[in-house]
Amino acid sequence: MTKQELIHEIERLKKEKNAIVLAHYYSDSDVQDIADFLGDSLELSRKAGTTDASVIVFAGVHFMAETAALISPDKKVLIPALGAGCSLADGVTGQALANWKASNPDGIIVSYVNTTAEVKNYTDICCTSANAVAVVKSLPADAKVYFVPDRNLGAYITKSTGRQMELYDGCCRVHEQVTAKMILDKIAEYPQADVLIHPECPCSSDPAILEHPNCYMYSTSGILRHATESPKKQFLIATEVGTLHKLRKDNPGKEFIPVSDKIVCEYMKMSTLESVYEALRDEKYEVKIPSEISKRALEPITKMMELK
Ligand code: 13P
Ligand code: SF4
Repeated sequence: MTKQELIHEIERLKKEKNAIVLAHYYSDSDVQDIADFLGDSLELSRKAGTTDASVIVFAGVHFMAETAALISPDKKVLIPALGAGCSLADGVTGQALANWKASNPDGIIVSYVNTTAEVKNYTDICCTSANAVAVVKSLPADAKVYFVPDRNLGAYITKSTGRQMELYDGCCRVHEQVTAKMILDKIAEYPQADVLIHPECPCSSDPAILEHPNCYMYSTSGILRHATESPKKQFLIATEVGTLHKLRKDNPGKEFIPVSDKIVCEYMKMSTLESVYEALRDEKYEVKIPSEISKRALEPITKMMELK
């Protein structure tokens, strides 16, 4: 099928099956263009909870589709690419959290939403990069906190709130490549640009970056908001390169330069027009959460969503 035929078939199947396609800003640009809703992790979770579609095709990674299935158990949630994992979600198990809780019965476990349902089953409250600071600030001041699994986001939160936390030693292998040197070299090349950095990058807690007047740390939606609202014309982007598609589409008069074109999440690119079409046509691959964990695993997501 040609690209136009695939798009036509996807639109037809969406109507026929009362389906919507949700996509993350890191998705392939063709998939972003056919998505009914494009968002960051927090926005996508909210949309999964409010849509009245019967079928959700999640053109993102597995933990996101799991979150949608937990939030909307009455809907059929499909992931076009079964292998679309995440180095953060794949790097921690529920058992690791259960062990920590056994030694710290009064401690609070905060899990980044980039975790499996099995890990959420042992979590007290979830966060995304958009609300992580607010979630941590909402916790009792004297509680011991275990922040799981992204050590870079955890270090950034500690630096911005002053809150000491025990950090799990996980990372996003995509953002892990963004060093302070990479950013400072780019600033030397583009001294007028604002630098928009995702807190999963290790440089987000480096004083040379944190205190640099050109640098701002944001979730994906924050990066998009800053770029749109700022009077500046030039921006250096330190996050997954898929974000550039939306930035350029929404801001035609502005220039967006990736700090490196190697910041690519191969998992996010696994959903293609072809696989989205096949997912809709064959209603595959359905993401189901075992009933013995679904109720408990939803609790930390609900707590996060209730926090304004
Ligand atoms: P946000 O969508 O919260 O910005 O997170 C980025 C990410 O890595 C998603 O997997
Ligand atoms: Fe996971 Fe990193 Fe890819 Fe996001 S960018 S899905 S955190 S591997």
